[in-house]
Amino acid sequence: MTLAPHKPLLHVLSGGKSDIIPIWLMRQAGRYLPEYRALRAAKGGFLELVNDHEAAAEVTLQPIARFGFDGAILFSDILIVPYALGQDLRFEAGEGPRLSPPLTDAVLSGLTAVPARLEPVYRTVEKVKAALPAETTFLGFAGSPWTVATYMVAGQGSRDQAEARQAAYADPGAFAEIIGAIEAMTVDYLSGQIEAGVEAVQLFDSWSGSLAPAQFESWVIAPTARIVAALKARHPHIPVIGFPKGAGAKLAAYARETGVDAIGLDETVDPAWADSVLPADLPVQGNLDPLALLAGGEALEKAVARILSSLAGRPHIFNLGHGIIKETPIAHVERLLELVRRSPSGRAA
Ligand code: CP3
Repeated sequence: MTLAPHKPLLHVLSGGKSDIIPIWLMRQAGRYLPEYRALRAAKGGFLELVNDHEAAAEVTLQPIARFGFDGAILFSDILIVPYALGQDLRFEAGEGPRLSPPLTDAVLSGLTAVPARLEPVYRTVEKVKAALPAETTFLGFAGSPWTVATYMVAGQGSRDQAEARQAAYADPGAFAEIIGAIEAMTVDYLSGQIEAGVEAVQLFDSWSGSLAPAQFESWVIAPTARIVAALKARHPHIPVIGFPKGAGAKLAAYARETGVDAIGLDETVDPAWADSVLPADLPVQGNLDPLALLAGGEALEKAVARILSSLAGRPHIFNLGHGIIKETPIAHVERLLELVRRSPSGRAA
């Protein structure tokens, strides 16, 4: 019998082998949970919830209390960085986020940074840290510069990130300044989270899949590598997870060139292929299709089995390939935990 590591998720992220497959889910603190919806309604809005550190700490802990995941992800949003860079941020029901002024209409130098807007998040981290179960790993996060820039430029979500892609071709110098400003704020923001108590961080690059290869090198790999290097200089022992969603065949270069300690796979990546092209000791996180979890039943059982067997030979953290869908039944999440923890290399039932 192998002794269970103190924090299984942190252990695997640090490259350790484990009989336990740790599990957490992207967007695990969110709208599929009735207790989240109740608290959000009571607070009146998403930003109100993020800025209220007591409530944000409670939301962070809700999925831990209910399911006992191995990781707790800080409750906040990737768009808090543009907010701290001086854009106004609104989340309106049914509309998605809005940042103003969009950088299609304004210049970066016209914004006045307000780093104090990050402070409530650090208070949330401290509060969660004090209440977190000893075996749970505390994850901080930020968006990657490219993904955050797509929102800053368009002022909102955009189907194919055309505004930001166009801005990057039209004036690479001005676009590099936007990326550089996000990068600097992100390093400070993640360092602040680490100093307040998170034990690992994830960089969400949700839109890395929309870039042509040379643009991917410039706007995904290079800024990510600089952020990882800056964080390593300040906090050498804190693992960094990179999640370049949609990167596909560019995953291997991303893994080689950015220096991330672990890599997240989205649901379109064949885990057996990823296993064959990624360095053998690199921890891999993923990559259940959120729609298989929504569907449940046999679809879920098969998809989970395939992922577990494909990644059995390397450090593996079970997760979805993207955020949990808000209609997902609680019972399906419970079943997923049973499947992962009962697997031959998973925790004994
Ligand atoms: O549980 C967690 O994972 C922690 C919290 C978290 C949120 N957003 C809370 C949230 C995290 C890690 C994010 C990341 C995020 N935010 C990303 C990257 C990951 C991804 O999904 O691609 C992106 C692109 C955003 C930007 C964002 N935030 C959008 C486009 C939206 C609106 C659409 C949507 O999916 O809801 C948000 C709002 C948001 N962020 C909600 C939550 C729980 C829903 C807000 C609400 O309660 O109405």
